[in-house]
Amino acid sequence: MENFTFYNPTKLIFGKGQLEQIKTELPQYGNKVLIVYGGGSIKRNGIYDNVLSLLNEIGAEVFEISGVEPNPRLSTVRKGIDICKKEQIDVLLAVGGGSVIDCTKAIAAGAKYDGDVWDFMTRKAVAKEALPFGTVLTLAATGSEMNSGSVITNWETNEKYGWGSPVTFPKFSILDPVHTFSVPKDQTIYGIVDMMSHVLEHYFHNVDNTPLQDRWCESILRTVMEAGPKLVEDLENYELRETILYCGTMALNGMVNMGYRGDWATHNIEHAVSAVYDIPHGGGLAIIFPHWMAYNLNVNVKRFKQLAERVFDVQSSGKTDQEIALEGIVKLRQFWNSIGAPERLADYDISDDQVDVMADKTVVFGEFGTFNKLGKNDVMQILTAAL
Ligand code: NZQ
Ligand code: ZN
Repeated sequence: MENFTFYNPTKLIFGKGQLEQIKTELPQYGNKVLIVYGGGSIKRNGIYDNVLSLLNEIGAEVFEISGVEPNPRLSTVRKGIDICKKEQIDVLLAVGGGSVIDCTKAIAAGAKYDGDVWDFMTRKAVAKEALPFGTVLTLAATGSEMNSGSVITNWETNEKYGWGSPVTFPKFSILDPVHTFSVPKDQTIYGIVDMMSHVLEHYFHNVDNTPLQDRWCESILRTVMEAGPKLVEDLENYELRETILYCGTMALNGMVNMGYRGDWATHNIEHAVSAVYDIPHGGGLAIIFPHWMAYNLNVNVKRFKQLAERVFDVQSSGKTDQEIALEGIVKLRQFWNSIGAPERLADYDISDDQVDVMADKTVVFGEFGTFNKLGKNDVMQILTAAL
């Protein structure tokens, strides 16, 4: 293991009926509340009304910004910052999926920054201060509810970058599995792929002696693979929603990767694809991840072999390490296909004409990936294989 310091200050409030906790959590940070939400799902499923009536009960002064896009845009972040500054907002409340939470993080930090908020995404500045914010999560996928990361798209320049800082952890996050009942089948599938990909990004590292971390990763993957297929056929099953919601949070809250850094190359490549084509994040990962794996198999075949044996139950007798490893990748692809995830860039009508442009976007900050450093040519090969 490498030396590490673990820090996660988010209060996780999990379970049925926990929305009520807003009444005790929010007032700790002030009375002027900016609610941030997306395109209207929270109005259709009733969460909006419930949140508003709780805010009324505590006498909060409520402001709103809605219409946060999936793959949230810089333009919306800027609007939110303007509201915070003009209305002297005390605290923000994100009600939605990862996009709404990520947008809220950017608004919260931008409201306390004199420069241009895009500086954070382009690594010109690190956020030192942010308004406090809480979240009510409605979609299991990103882990944004219990981490400090955020991903923002500048649609004018077709750039999509992850960023974060120690000040952009939510103060609290409320996770009620019932709030995820209305997530449609396709978004449920993308969420499953996303949380599995977060574990896989962690799993591929070259640090010695991480037996507990490995088994945490493997258990999350096995649990998601057990519950996921049942859930996509039974979207309002409380136990299955509960399991998947918990897995999504644990996959990316810093727990499984104490003592090493994950790779994150596939996320970087997917963000470049979404920046150009605005496709769902989980859909892009399902297409790209197995190709990243095949491309990097020989960097450390033992990691791939271990994954194949422990997670995909690949039988090893009479096979070489490489054969076992390859079978694991095939089984991952088969699993994602079986739940209805996309398989090729062509599924989103993406052809080879922008491969060069997308590859350029992945190396804006230089070579990337900790398991294996990748450059533009590597990305071109991975994307071409995924066409
Ligand atoms: O906008 P509304 O109307 O709310 O609809 C959303 C949206 O259309 C809908 N939805 C959410 N909850 C629902 C629901 N529909 C019905 N019932 C509900 N309960 O689902 C659609 C997708 O929502 P979105 O928030 O975009 O999905 P997700 O949570 O997958 O977030 C994706 C974004 O997160 C970033 C991705 O790049 C992408 O921009 N990521 C953020 C990370 C982080 N902060 O740690 C890590 C991830 O790797 C990821 O990159
Ligand atoms: Zn992700």
